[in-house]
Amino acid sequence: MPEPLDAALTEVRTLLLDPTLTRAVAAGRRRGQRPSVVRAELRPVVLKAGPRLQISTSDGSRPYTRNVAPGTEAGSAVDALLAEPFGNWHVETADATLQLRVTKSGEAQVHRAAATRTAAEPVGHDRAKEYLLDPGDPIFAEIGGSAAKRRQVDAFLRALAATLPEELTGPLRVVDLGCGNAYLTFAAYRYLARRGLDVELVGVDVREDQRRRNTELADRLGWAGRVSFVAGTIADAVVEPAPDLVLALHACDTATDEALARAVRWNARWVLAAPCCHHDLAAQLRSRPAPAPYELLTRQGILRERFADVLTDALRAGLLRLHGYRAEVVEFVDSRHTPRNLLIRARRTGAAPTEGQRAEYRELVDQWQVTPRLAALLAGDAPNT
Ligand SMILES: C[S@@+](CC[C@H](N)C(=O)[O-])C[C@H]1O[C@@H](n2cnc3c(N)ncnc32)[C@H](O)[C@@H]1O
Repeated sequence: MPEPLDAALTEVRTLLLDPTLTRAVAAGRRRGQRPSVVRAELRPVVLKAGPRLQISTSDGSRPYTRNVAPGTEAGSAVDALLAEPFGNWHVETADATLQLRVTKSGEAQVHRAAATRTAAEPVGHDRAKEYLLDPGDPIFAEIGGSAAKRRQVDAFLRALAATLPEELTGPLRVVDLGCGNAYLTFAAYRYLARRGLDVELVGVDVREDQRRRNTELADRLGWAGRVSFVAGTIADAVVEPAPDLVLALHACDTATDEALARAVRWNARWVLAAPCCHHDLAAQLRSRPAPAPYELLTRQGILRERFADVLTDALRAGLLRLHGYRAEVVEFVDSRHTPRNLLIRARRTGAAPTEGQRAEYRELVDQWQVTPRLAALLAGDAPNT
Protein backbone atom coordinates (compact mmCIF):
# COMPACT_ATOMS: atom_id res chain seq x y z
CA MET A 1 0.00 0.00 0.00
CA PRO A 2 1.43 3.39 -0.91
CA GLU A 3 2.00 5.73 2.02
CA PRO A 4 2.38 9.50 2.29
CA LEU A 5 5.93 10.35 1.23
CA ASP A 6 6.66 12.90 3.97
CA ALA A 7 5.84 10.48 6.77
CA ALA A 8 7.92 7.73 5.16
CA LEU A 9 10.89 10.08 4.74
CA THR A 10 10.61 11.07 8.41
CA GLU A 11 10.93 7.39 9.25
CA VAL A 12 13.98 7.14 6.95
CA ARG A 13 15.48 10.17 8.73
CA THR A 14 15.11 8.48 12.11
CA LEU A 15 16.85 5.36 10.82
CA LEU A 16 19.64 7.33 9.14
CA LEU A 17 20.41 9.05 12.44
CA ASP A 18 20.00 5.85 14.47
CA PRO A 19 23.28 4.94 16.22
CA THR A 20 22.89 1.36 14.92
CA LEU A 21 22.77 2.44 11.26
CA THR A 22 24.80 -0.03 9.18
CA ARG A 23 24.44 1.36 5.70
CA ALA A 24 22.06 3.37 3.57
CA VAL A 25 21.88 4.11 -0.13
CA ALA A 26 19.83 6.67 -2.02
CA ALA A 27 19.60 6.42 -5.79
CA GLY A 28 17.30 6.77 -8.77
CA ARG A 29 15.06 9.74 -9.33
CA ARG A 30 11.47 10.76 -9.08
CA ARG A 31 9.38 11.26 -12.12
CA GLY A 32 10.34 14.44 -13.98
CA GLN A 33 12.99 15.39 -11.39
CA ARG A 34 16.72 14.93 -11.12
CA PRO A 35 18.73 14.89 -7.87
CA SER A 36 21.97 16.90 -7.83
CA VAL A 37 23.89 13.61 -7.35
CA VAL A 38 23.12 10.23 -8.87
CA ARG A 39 23.75 8.24 -5.71
CA ALA A 40 24.48 8.76 -2.02
CA GLU A 41 25.76 6.18 0.43
CA LEU A 42 25.87 6.64 4.19
CA ARG A 43 27.58 4.53 6.83
CA PRO A 44 29.11 4.93 10.28
CA VAL A 45 32.89 5.18 10.64
CA VAL A 46 35.18 5.79 13.58
CA LEU A 47 37.96 8.27 12.97
CA LYS A 48 40.62 9.52 15.37
CA ALA A 49 38.28 12.41 16.11
CA GLY A 50 35.50 9.99 17.10
CA PRO A 51 32.44 8.45 15.43
CA ARG A 52 31.27 10.08 12.23
CA LEU A 53 28.61 9.53 9.61
CA GLN A 54 30.37 9.03 6.29
CA ILE A 55 28.48 10.32 3.27
CA SER A 56 29.71 9.39 -0.19
CA THR A 57 28.00 10.92 -3.17
CA SER A 58 28.63 10.49 -6.84
CA ASP A 59 27.71 12.77 -9.68
CA GLY A 60 28.04 9.85 -12.07
CA SER A 61 31.68 10.37 -12.84
CA ARG A 62 33.44 11.24 -9.60
CA PRO A 63 32.83 10.15 -6.01
CA TYR A 64 32.91 12.69 -3.18
CA THR A 65 33.19 11.58 0.45
CA ARG A 66 32.82 13.55 3.65
CA ASN A 67 32.52 12.63 7.32
CA VAL A 68 30.07 14.57 9.45
CA ALA A 69 29.86 14.70 13.25
CA PRO A 70 26.81 13.20 14.96
CA GLY A 71 24.19 15.70 16.11
CA THR A 72 23.40 18.91 14.30
CA GLU A 73 25.92 18.42 11.50
CA ALA A 74 24.70 14.91 10.66
CA GLY A 75 21.07 16.07 11.00
CA SER A 76 21.56 18.90 8.48
CA ALA A 77 23.45 16.67 6.04
CA VAL A 78 20.74 14.01 6.23
CA ASP A 79 18.00 16.62 5.77
CA ALA A 80 19.75 17.92 2.66
CA LEU A 81 19.87 14.41 1.20
CA LEU A 82 16.25 13.72 2.07
CA ALA A 83 15.29 16.91 0.23
CA GLU A 84 16.85 15.53 -2.97
CA PRO A 85 14.31 13.89 -5.32
CA PHE A 86 15.82 10.40 -5.09
CA GLY A 87 13.55 7.64 -6.34
CA ASN A 88 14.75 5.00 -3.85
CA TRP A 89 16.14 4.73 -0.35
CA HIS A 90 17.56 1.55 1.11
CA VAL A 91 18.42 1.75 4.83
CA GLU A 92 19.83 -0.94 7.08
CA THR A 93 20.24 -0.71 10.84
CA ALA A 94 21.08 -3.40 13.38
CA ASP A 95 17.39 -4.15 13.74
CA ALA A 96 15.65 -3.27 10.52
CA THR A 97 15.90 -2.92 6.80
CA LEU A 98 13.69 -0.40 5.07
CA GLN A 99 13.28 0.06 1.34
CA LEU A 100 11.39 3.05 0.04
CA ARG A 101 10.45 3.61 -3.58
CA VAL A 102 8.72 6.75 -4.72
CA THR A 103 5.84 5.87 -7.01
CA LYS A 104 4.89 7.71 -10.20
CA SER A 105 2.18 9.52 -8.27
CA GLY A 106 4.72 10.75 -5.67
CA GLU A 107 3.74 8.40 -2.86
CA ALA A 108 6.02 6.04 -0.95
CA GLN A 109 5.98 2.29 -1.45
CA VAL A 110 7.74 1.01 1.66
CA HIS A 111 9.03 -2.43 2.46
CA ARG A 112 10.12 -3.04 6.06
CA ALA A 113 11.87 -6.14 7.33
CA ALA A 114 13.77 -7.27 10.38
CA ALA A 115 17.53 -7.00 9.84
CA THR A 116 18.90 -9.86 7.78
CA ARG A 117 22.45 -9.66 9.01
CA THR A 118 24.45 -8.61 12.04
CA ALA A 119 25.18 -4.92 12.15
CA ALA A 120 28.81 -4.20 11.48
CA GLU A 121 30.60 -2.41 14.26
CA PRO A 122 31.59 1.05 13.13
CA VAL A 123 35.11 0.71 11.83
CA GLY A 124 37.98 2.99 10.95
CA HIS A 125 37.29 4.30 7.49
CA ASP A 126 40.31 2.63 5.90
CA ARG A 127 39.11 -0.69 7.22
CA ALA A 128 35.46 -0.07 6.50
CA LYS A 129 35.08 -2.65 3.75
CA GLU A 130 31.53 -3.54 2.92
CA TYR A 131 31.24 -6.28 0.37
CA LEU A 132 28.28 -7.31 -1.67
CA LEU A 133 29.70 -10.84 -1.66
CA ASP A 134 31.42 -11.71 1.59
CA PRO A 135 35.16 -12.29 0.93
CA GLY A 136 34.74 -15.33 3.20
CA ASP A 137 32.17 -16.81 0.79
CA PRO A 138 33.15 -20.43 0.06
CA ILE A 139 33.28 -19.76 -3.70
CA PHE A 140 36.44 -17.72 -3.20
CA ALA A 141 38.21 -20.74 -1.72
CA GLU A 142 37.60 -22.42 -5.09
CA ILE A 143 38.12 -19.57 -7.53
CA GLY A 144 40.97 -17.85 -5.67
CA GLY A 145 41.96 -14.37 -6.81
CA SER A 146 43.80 -11.59 -4.99
CA ALA A 147 42.16 -9.20 -2.54
CA ALA A 148 42.43 -6.47 -5.20
CA LYS A 149 40.61 -8.64 -7.74
CA ARG A 150 37.87 -9.42 -5.24
CA ARG A 151 37.47 -5.74 -4.50
CA GLN A 152 37.24 -4.98 -8.24
CA VAL A 153 34.73 -7.74 -8.84
CA ASP A 154 32.66 -6.68 -5.86
CA ALA A 155 32.58 -3.10 -7.12
CA PHE A 156 31.54 -4.36 -10.55
CA LEU A 157 28.70 -6.29 -8.94
CA ARG A 158 27.58 -3.16 -7.11
CA ALA A 159 27.36 -1.38 -10.45
CA LEU A 160 25.39 -4.34 -11.75
CA ALA A 161 23.07 -4.22 -8.76
CA ALA A 162 22.45 -0.53 -9.44
CA THR A 163 21.70 -1.25 -13.11
CA LEU A 164 19.20 -4.09 -12.92
CA PRO A 165 15.66 -3.11 -11.93
CA GLU A 166 14.81 -4.19 -8.40
CA GLU A 167 11.61 -5.85 -9.56
CA LEU A 168 13.43 -8.02 -12.14
CA THR A 169 12.13 -11.58 -12.26
CA GLY A 170 12.16 -14.40 -14.76
CA PRO A 171 15.05 -16.10 -16.52
CA LEU A 172 18.15 -14.00 -17.06
CA ARG A 173 20.75 -14.99 -19.62
CA VAL A 174 24.13 -13.49 -19.01
CA VAL A 175 27.44 -13.59 -20.85
CA ASP A 176 30.86 -12.57 -19.52
CA LEU A 177 33.07 -11.71 -22.50
CA GLY A 178 36.84 -12.10 -22.09
CA CYS A 179 36.17 -13.91 -18.82
CA GLY A 180 39.78 -15.07 -18.20
CA ASN A 181 39.89 -16.82 -14.82
CA ALA A 182 36.16 -16.21 -14.45
CA TYR A 183 36.26 -14.45 -11.08
CA LEU A 184 33.56 -12.10 -12.28
CA THR A 185 31.62 -14.92 -13.96
CA PHE A 186 31.32 -16.99 -10.79
CA ALA A 187 30.80 -14.02 -8.49
CA ALA A 188 28.08 -12.62 -10.79
CA TYR A 189 26.34 -15.99 -10.85
CA ARG A 190 26.47 -16.20 -7.06
CA TYR A 191 25.11 -12.68 -6.68
CA LEU A 192 22.31 -13.02 -9.27
CA ALA A 193 21.22 -16.46 -8.08
CA ARG A 194 21.05 -15.15 -4.51
CA ARG A 195 18.71 -12.45 -5.76
CA GLY A 196 16.40 -15.32 -6.62
CA LEU A 197 16.86 -14.98 -10.37
CA ASP A 198 16.82 -17.95 -12.68
CA VAL A 199 20.27 -17.29 -14.17
CA GLU A 200 22.25 -18.94 -16.92
CA LEU A 201 25.70 -17.58 -17.41
CA VAL A 202 28.21 -18.22 -20.19
CA GLY A 203 31.87 -17.20 -19.96
CA VAL A 204 33.68 -16.60 -23.24
CA ASP A 205 37.43 -16.48 -23.60
CA VAL A 206 39.69 -17.14 -26.53
CA ARG A 207 41.84 -19.45 -24.39
CA GLU A 208 40.93 -23.13 -24.42
CA ASP A 209 42.95 -23.76 -21.24
CA GLN A 210 40.74 -21.24 -19.43
CA ARG A 211 37.62 -22.96 -20.72
CA ARG A 212 38.83 -26.31 -19.34
CA ARG A 213 39.85 -24.88 -15.98
CA ASN A 214 36.67 -22.84 -15.57
CA THR A 215 34.44 -25.75 -16.58
CA GLU A 216 36.08 -27.94 -13.91
CA LEU A 217 35.53 -25.19 -11.37
CA ALA A 218 31.86 -24.89 -12.30
CA ASP A 219 31.57 -28.65 -11.79
CA ARG A 220 33.22 -28.46 -8.36
CA LEU A 221 30.89 -25.65 -7.35
CA GLY A 222 27.90 -27.72 -8.47
CA TRP A 223 26.90 -25.10 -11.06
CA ALA A 224 27.71 -27.03 -14.23
CA GLY A 225 24.17 -26.78 -15.59
CA ARG A 226 24.03 -23.06 -14.98
CA VAL A 227 27.51 -21.68 -15.63
CA SER A 228 29.26 -22.82 -18.78
CA PHE A 229 32.27 -21.74 -20.78
CA VAL A 230 33.02 -21.38 -24.47
CA ALA A 231 36.47 -21.07 -26.04
CA GLY A 232 36.22 -18.58 -28.87
CA THR A 233 36.52 -14.97 -29.79
CA ILE A 234 34.15 -12.37 -28.46
CA ALA A 235 33.17 -11.53 -32.02
CA ASP A 236 32.27 -15.08 -33.07
CA ALA A 237 31.73 -17.36 -30.07
CA VAL A 238 28.41 -19.17 -30.22
CA VAL A 239 26.17 -18.10 -27.36
CA GLU A 240 22.60 -19.26 -27.69
CA PRO A 241 20.08 -18.00 -26.98
CA ALA A 242 21.22 -14.39 -27.09
CA PRO A 243 21.94 -12.94 -23.63
CA ASP A 244 19.92 -10.25 -21.87
CA LEU A 245 22.94 -8.97 -19.98
CA VAL A 246 26.50 -8.58 -21.29
CA LEU A 247 29.46 -8.20 -18.93
CA ALA A 248 33.08 -7.52 -19.86
CA LEU A 249 35.74 -6.73 -17.29
CA HIS A 250 39.05 -5.57 -18.73
CA ALA A 251 38.77 -7.33 -22.06
CA CYS A 252 41.96 -6.17 -23.75
CA ASP A 253 42.05 -3.02 -25.94
CA THR A 254 39.59 -3.40 -28.83
CA ALA A 255 38.13 -6.61 -27.34
CA THR A 256 35.93 -4.15 -25.40
CA ASP A 257 34.70 -2.84 -28.76
CA GLU A 258 33.99 -6.40 -29.85
CA ALA A 259 32.02 -6.91 -26.64
CA LEU A 260 29.98 -3.73 -27.17
CA ALA A 261 29.33 -4.56 -30.83
CA ARG A 262 28.24 -8.08 -29.92
CA ALA A 263 25.92 -6.72 -27.24
CA VAL A 264 24.31 -4.40 -29.78
CA ARG A 265 23.87 -7.26 -32.26
CA TRP A 266 22.35 -9.43 -29.57
CA ASN A 267 20.06 -6.55 -28.70
CA ALA A 268 21.07 -7.09 -25.07
CA ARG A 269 19.02 -5.21 -22.52
CA TRP A 270 21.98 -4.23 -20.34
CA VAL A 271 25.71 -3.92 -20.96
CA LEU A 272 28.43 -3.35 -18.39
CA ALA A 273 31.92 -3.12 -19.84
CA ALA A 274 34.99 -1.92 -17.94
CA PRO A 275 37.55 -1.13 -20.65
CA CYS A 276 41.20 -2.11 -20.36
CA CYS A 277 44.05 -0.50 -22.27
CA HIS A 278 43.23 1.80 -25.22
CA HIS A 279 45.76 1.54 -28.03
CA ASP A 280 43.64 1.90 -31.13
CA LEU A 281 42.82 5.61 -31.09
CA ALA A 282 46.13 6.47 -29.44
CA ALA A 283 47.86 5.06 -32.55
CA GLN A 284 45.52 6.93 -34.87
CA LEU A 285 46.13 10.21 -33.03
CA ARG A 286 49.88 9.65 -33.21
CA SER A 287 49.79 9.18 -36.95
CA ARG A 288 48.21 12.52 -37.87
CA PRO A 289 48.30 16.14 -36.73
CA ALA A 290 45.67 17.26 -34.24
CA PRO A 291 43.08 19.70 -35.56
CA ALA A 292 43.66 23.33 -34.61
CA PRO A 293 43.57 24.61 -31.94
CA TYR A 294 44.06 21.31 -30.08
CA GLU A 295 47.72 20.52 -30.84
CA LEU A 296 48.68 21.02 -27.21
CA LEU A 297 46.33 18.21 -26.20
CA THR A 298 48.27 15.56 -28.09
CA ARG A 299 51.84 16.84 -28.39
CA GLN A 300 53.07 15.20 -25.17
CA GLY A 301 52.94 11.40 -25.29
CA ILE A 302 51.32 10.91 -21.89
CA LEU A 303 48.67 13.55 -22.56
CA ARG A 304 47.96 12.05 -25.97
CA GLU A 305 47.42 8.64 -24.38
CA ARG A 306 45.10 10.01 -21.72
CA PHE A 307 43.20 12.03 -24.26
CA ALA A 308 42.90 8.91 -26.45
CA ASP A 309 41.40 7.07 -23.44
CA VAL A 310 38.81 9.79 -22.96
CA LEU A 311 38.05 10.08 -26.67
CA THR A 312 37.70 6.29 -27.04
CA ASP A 313 35.19 5.91 -24.22
CA ALA A 314 33.30 9.06 -25.15
CA LEU A 315 32.87 7.77 -28.70
CA ARG A 316 31.88 4.32 -27.44
CA ALA A 317 29.15 5.86 -25.31
CA GLY A 318 28.12 8.09 -28.21
CA LEU A 319 27.90 5.11 -30.57
CA LEU A 320 25.83 3.09 -28.12
CA ARG A 321 23.42 6.00 -27.94
CA LEU A 322 23.13 5.97 -31.72
CA HIS A 323 22.24 2.29 -31.49
CA GLY A 324 19.36 2.69 -29.08
CA TYR A 325 21.13 2.56 -25.72
CA ARG A 326 21.25 4.99 -22.88
CA ALA A 327 24.95 4.88 -22.00
CA GLU A 328 26.97 6.42 -19.22
CA VAL A 329 30.60 6.23 -18.25
CA VAL A 330 31.20 6.01 -14.51
CA GLU A 331 34.00 5.17 -12.08
CA PHE A 332 33.08 1.78 -10.66
CA VAL A 333 35.94 1.28 -8.22
CA ASP A 334 38.50 3.46 -6.51
CA SER A 335 41.66 3.94 -8.59
CA ARG A 336 43.64 2.41 -5.68
CA HIS A 337 42.28 -0.98 -6.72
CA THR A 338 42.90 -0.61 -10.45
CA PRO A 339 43.83 2.29 -12.70
CA ARG A 340 41.36 0.83 -15.21
CA ASN A 341 38.42 1.91 -13.15
CA LEU A 342 35.93 3.25 -15.68
CA LEU A 343 32.78 1.41 -16.56
CA ILE A 344 30.57 1.86 -19.60
CA ARG A 345 27.08 1.09 -18.42
CA ALA A 346 24.31 0.94 -21.00
CA ARG A 347 20.63 0.13 -20.97
CA ARG A 348 18.69 -0.54 -24.13
CA THR A 349 15.92 1.96 -24.69
CA GLY A 350 15.36 1.31 -28.38
CA ALA A 351 15.14 5.08 -28.87
CA ALA A 352 16.03 6.27 -32.35
CA PRO A 353 18.87 8.78 -32.28
CA THR A 354 18.09 12.39 -32.95
CA GLU A 355 19.70 14.28 -35.81
CA GLY A 356 21.56 16.32 -33.18
CA GLN A 357 23.05 13.17 -31.60
CA ARG A 358 24.17 11.87 -34.97
CA ALA A 359 25.75 15.22 -35.84
CA GLU A 360 27.47 15.44 -32.45
CA TYR A 361 29.12 12.07 -33.01
CA ARG A 362 29.98 12.69 -36.66
CA GLU A 363 31.53 16.09 -36.02
CA LEU A 364 33.79 14.69 -33.33
CA VAL A 365 35.19 11.86 -35.46
CA ASP A 366 35.46 14.11 -38.51
CA GLN A 367 37.31 16.77 -36.62
CA TRP A 368 39.84 14.32 -35.20
CA GLN A 369 39.92 12.18 -38.34
CA VAL A 370 39.60 8.95 -36.35
CA THR A 371 37.72 5.72 -36.95
CA PRO A 372 36.77 4.07 -33.68
CA ARG A 373 36.98 0.31 -33.81
CA LEU A 374 33.43 0.06 -32.52
CA ALA A 375 32.16 2.16 -35.44
CA ALA A 376 33.90 -0.19 -37.88
CA LEU A 377 32.40 -3.21 -36.12
CA LEU A 378 28.91 -1.75 -36.18
CA ALA A 379 29.10 -0.39 -39.70
CA GLY A 380 26.06 -1.59 -41.57
CA ASP A 381 24.15 -2.53 -38.42
CA ALA A 382 22.16 0.65 -38.48
CA PRO A 383 22.07 3.61 -40.82
CA ASN A 384 22.78 5.92 -37.92
CA THR A 385 26.54 6.13 -37.96
C1 LIG B 1 42.86 -8.81 -18.79
S1 LIG B 1 42.04 -10.32 -18.92
C2 LIG B 1 40.61 -10.06 -17.95
C3 LIG B 1 39.97 -11.33 -17.52
C4 LIG B 1 38.74 -11.20 -16.61
N1 LIG B 1 37.64 -10.55 -17.27
C5 LIG B 1 39.11 -10.49 -15.34
O1 LIG B 1 38.79 -9.31 -15.20
O2 LIG B 1 39.76 -11.12 -14.49
C6 LIG B 1 41.43 -10.30 -20.58
C7 LIG B 1 40.93 -11.65 -21.06
O3 LIG B 1 40.28 -11.43 -22.31
C8 LIG B 1 40.63 -12.49 -23.19
N2 LIG B 1 40.48 -11.93 -24.54
C9 LIG B 1 41.13 -10.88 -25.09
N3 LIG B 1 40.70 -10.64 -26.33
C10 LIG B 1 39.74 -11.55 -26.58
C11 LIG B 1 38.88 -11.80 -27.71
N4 LIG B 1 38.95 -11.04 -28.79
N5 LIG B 1 38.00 -12.81 -27.63
C12 LIG B 1 37.93 -13.59 -26.50
N6 LIG B 1 38.70 -13.39 -25.42
C13 LIG B 1 39.59 -12.38 -25.45
C14 LIG B 1 42.04 -12.86 -22.81
O4 LIG B 1 42.34 -14.19 -23.19
C15 LIG B 1 42.00 -12.65 -21.30
O5 LIG B 1 41.70 -13.86 -20.63
